[in-house]
Amino acid sequence: MAYDLPLFQLDDHAGPAKVEPIRIFSEETVSAGTGTYRKTTGEFWTERQRQMHSLHYVVSYRASFKPELPEFFISRYSRPGDVVLDPFNGRGTTALQANLMGRTAYGSDVNPMSGRITYPKCNPVSADQIDERLDEIELDPDTPVDGEDDFSMFYHPGTCRELVGLRRHLAENFTDADRFIELVALSRLHGHSPGFFSVYSFPQISVSAANQVKINERRNQAPDYRPIKTRILKKAKRSLADGKIDSIRKASKHNRFELCDARELRFPDACADLIVTSPPFLNKADYILDNWIELWFLGIDEDTVRKAVVQTHSFKKWVQFMTPAIAEMGRVLCSDGVAVVEVGEVMIGGGLVYLDEVIVDIVQDLRSGGCPLTVEEVLIHEQNFTKLANCFKVDNNKKGTNSHRLIVLRK
Ligand SMILES: C[S@@+](CC[C@H](N)C(=O)[O-])C[C@H]1O[C@@H](n2cnc3c(N)ncnc32)[C@H](O)[C@@H]1O
Repeated sequence: MAYDLPLFQLDDHAGPAKVEPIRIFSEETVSAGTGTYRKTTGEFWTERQRQMHSLHYVVSYRASFKPELPEFFISRYSRPGDVVLDPFNGRGTTALQANLMGRTAYGSDVNPMSGRITYPKCNPVSADQIDERLDEIELDPDTPVDGEDDFSMFYHPGTCRELVGLRRHLAENFTDADRFIELVALSRLHGHSPGFFSVYSFPQISVSAANQVKINERRNQAPDYRPIKTRILKKAKRSLADGKIDSIRKASKHNRFELCDARELRFPDACADLIVTSPPFLNKADYILDNWIELWFLGIDEDTVRKAVVQTHSFKKWVQFMTPAIAEMGRVLCSDGVAVVEVGEVMIGGGLVYLDEVIVDIVQDLRSGGCPLTVEEVLIHEQNFTKLANCFKVDNNKKGTNSHRLIVLRK
C-alpha cells in the first residue's frame, strides 16, 4: 500500500522551503555478503518538471539527473558548509544544488565541457552585467569565417559570423560575465523555437550536418537571420529569474573542479563529506558526436574527449571501470561520509540487470581488499517517464515508468 510521509524541511539556504511527500511502495531487507541492507521502493521527489532553481535548466546535458535528486540526498546527509563532491560532474547539477544549499561543491569529469558549464552556473552574474558585457562585445557582421566548419545548414551567414565572433571573443576573455554569456550561448546553439540561433533543429543533441540538411528539406526551411545578443540576454534573464546570485557566489567561493578520471581523482584523502553522483550509462549513445556543435563552440578537441570518456555497452568493461571508481570514492570520503551512486537497469543478453545489485557486488569485492565502504541502503525511485527521458529512449522494460536506483554507501 502506498502511504504519504512528510519528507524533510529544507534549511534556509535551500531555496524555496517546501515539504515533499514520500510515497513508499515497498521495503525489504536484503542480505549481501556478511551483512544486510534496506531496500526501499518509492517516490522520493516530485515527477513534476522544472520545479527547482531556474539556473539548473540553463543548459541541457545528456543523462543529467533532476536537481531534486541531489537536493534529497544533500538534505539528508550533509550540513551547510560541508563539501559535496560529484566525480562524474556532468552539467554540475550536484554542484549547483550544493551551493544553493550553502555547501561547498567539488566536481570532476574527464570532459572539459563539464567545468565550462559548472563554473558559470555556480558563479552567476546579474542580467545587467550581462547586458553591459554584451554591449562591449563587438560582433562584426563581416567577421571572416574562413577555416571554420560549414554551418550553413544550421545558421544564416549573418548569425554564423556573429557566433564565430563571439566564440573568438570568449577564447580570449574570461570575466564571470563572459563565462556566463558562454554558458547561455551554449544553450542556444540549436533547437526548435525562434529563441535558438539555428533554424529548427533538435535541442538536446547536435544532429549531423547531413541530417540537418534532410530536416531542412523535409520542413522546406532555410536558416533565417537570428541576432544572437538579444537571444542570449533573454535566455540569461530566464535562467536568473530565481535570483540568489549573491548566496550562490558566496557558497561557491571554495568550489573546486578538476579535469580528471574518476578512477584517479585529484582530490586529497577524506576531503568530501558527501558524494552524489551518476556514472556514465551502459549504453550505445555517443555523447561526443551528439555534442559536436557544443564542443566546436567551446574549442574542445573531440578526439581528446573521446579518448578520456568512458562510454561502453560492454557490461564487463563497465564493471572494470566502476570498481576502481568506487574505490576512489572510498578514499576521498571523510570518515562516516556517504556516497550516493545513481544507476539504472539494462538489458543484457535478453535479461534485465539491475545495476544497483552490480554496485553492491563491487562494494563487497572491494571490502575484501580493504575498501572502507559498506552498503547502507538502496532506494529505488519510481516515476513516470520524463519528456527528455523518452526523447533519449530511456527504457527499463516497464511501460510508463522510469526507475532511478540509488545505492547509499557509508565509509
Ligand atoms: C551520467 S553523466 C553525469 C551527469 C550529472 N549527474 C548531471 O546531472 O549532469 C556521466 C558523466 O561522466 C563523465 N565521464 C565519463 N567517463 C568518465 C571518467 N572516466 N571519469 C570521469 N568522468 C567520466 C561524462 O563526461 C559525463 O559527464
